[in-house]
Amino acid sequence: MNSSKRIKWGIIGCGNIANKFASDLALIDEAELTAVASRNIDKATKFAQQHNSKRAYGSYKELLLDTTIDIVYIATPHNSHAELSIKAMEYGKHVLCEKPLALNAKETRAMLESSKKTNQFFMEALWTRFNPSLVEIKKRIDHGEIGSIKYINADFSFKTDKSVDSRVLSLDLGGGTILDIGIYPAFLVYLFLGVPKEILARSIFHEVTKCDMQTSMIFHYDNVQAILYSGFTSPSGVAARISGTEGQIHLHNPWHVAQGYSLLKNNEEQVFNLPTTGIGFSHEIIECHNCLRAHKIESETWSHQNSLDLITILDTVREQVGLQYPQELT
Ligand SMILES: NC(=O)c1ccc[n+]([C@@H]2O[C@H](COP(=O)([O-])OP(=O)(O)OC[C@H]3O[C@@H](n4cnc5c(N)ncnc54)[C@H](OP(=O)(O)O)[C@@H]3O)[C@@H](O)[C@H]2O)c1
Repeated sequence: MNSSKRIKWGIIGCGNIANKFASDLALIDEAELTAVASRNIDKATKFAQQHNSKRAYGSYKELLLDTTIDIVYIATPHNSHAELSIKAMEYGKHVLCEKPLALNAKETRAMLESSKKTNQFFMEALWTRFNPSLVEIKKRIDHGEIGSIKYINADFSFKTDKSVDSRVLSLDLGGGTILDIGIYPAFLVYLFLGVPKEILARSIFHEVTKCDMQTSMIFHYDNVQAILYSGFTSPSGVAARISGTEGQIHLHNPWHVAQGYSLLKNNEEQVFNLPTTGIGFSHEIIECHNCLRAHKIESETWSHQNSLDLITILDTVREQVGLQYPQELT
C-alpha cells in the first residue's frame, strides 16, 4: 500500500454501531469513507449522506465488488460475521469485523484460515484493547506497578427495552449477554491473566427467546480469581477493578470506553485522565492503518490468536450455562 494514499473504507450494515464508527472514521485524515452498504438502498443512501460516503449500495455484494475499497468494516449481527468476513477477504478486501468475531471458535478458525489463504489483513474490532487507558494500565501492570494480580472484578450490565426479535435478544442472530457484552469482562481478564485454568458460569435466560439475560462467571487461575458479570436486566455502572499485591487500578466507568483510571497505592489515589479521540473507535482504526501500511495480515496488539482464545473462553462459558445457538445444533 502506497504510504501517501488515503485508506479507502467500506462499511457493511448501516446500524447503530456503524453510525458511531463512521463518525470516528471522519476524524482521521488518512481515512476515506468510500462506500457503505445496506440491505436497503434508501437506508444506505441516507447513511452515505450523513457520513459523506462517496457511494451507497443496496446490497452487501455490490460493495464487495467495488475494487476501489481497501478495507471493509463489518457491523452486522454476530451470526453473519464469519460468512461476510470470509467473502470480503475472498473479494480481495482487508477486514475489520465487529466483536464477537464469530459465534464460536469453529467459525473463528475458518476466518483466520481465510486471512492466511488470501493474505488479507483481518482483525476483530475489539476497540477496548486500543483504548488509551487500557494501553497505559497494561504497561503499568506489566512493569509490576501493582505487584502480582490476585483478583479482578468487572461487569457490564444495563437494562434493555429491546423487543424479542431484536439483534440482542434473538438466538438466531447470536443474541444474549455473553457474546454481546460479557465479552468485555472476559477480554479484560484474558488480557492480564491469559486463558483461565477453569471457568464456572451460571445464567438466567429470557422466557421467550431463551437467550441469556444475566450471566455470572468465575475465572479461576493458580492463585488468582476473577469475578465477572454481564446483564440486560439492570444497570451496573460498568465497573472494573484490578487488585494486585502492591496496589489497585480502577478503570473509570464505563470501563470498556474508559476516559481515565485511578491508581491506588500506599493509601494514596492518583487519577489519570486519558480521553479517547472521538467516541473511541479511532484508536482501532489507526491500528488497522498501521498494519495495512506495514503489509501485515494481523495486529500484534490484538492478534488472531487473541481473538481465538477469547471466543474459546466464551464457548466454555456457554457450555457451562448450557447455551447453544440454533446454527450449532444442526
Ligand atoms: N464495538 C462496540 O462498542 C459495539 C457496540 C455495539 C455493537 N457492536 C457489534 O456490532 C454488531 C452490530 O451491532 P449493532 O448494535 O450495530 O446492531 P444493529 O443496530 O441491529 O445493526 C446491525 C445491522 O446489521 C444489518 N443486518 C444484516 N442482517 C441483519 C439481520 N438479520 N437482522 C438485523 N440486522 C441485520 C442491518 O443493516 P442494514 O439494514 O443496513 O443491512 C443492521 O442495521 C454486533 O456484532 C455487535 O456485537 C459493537
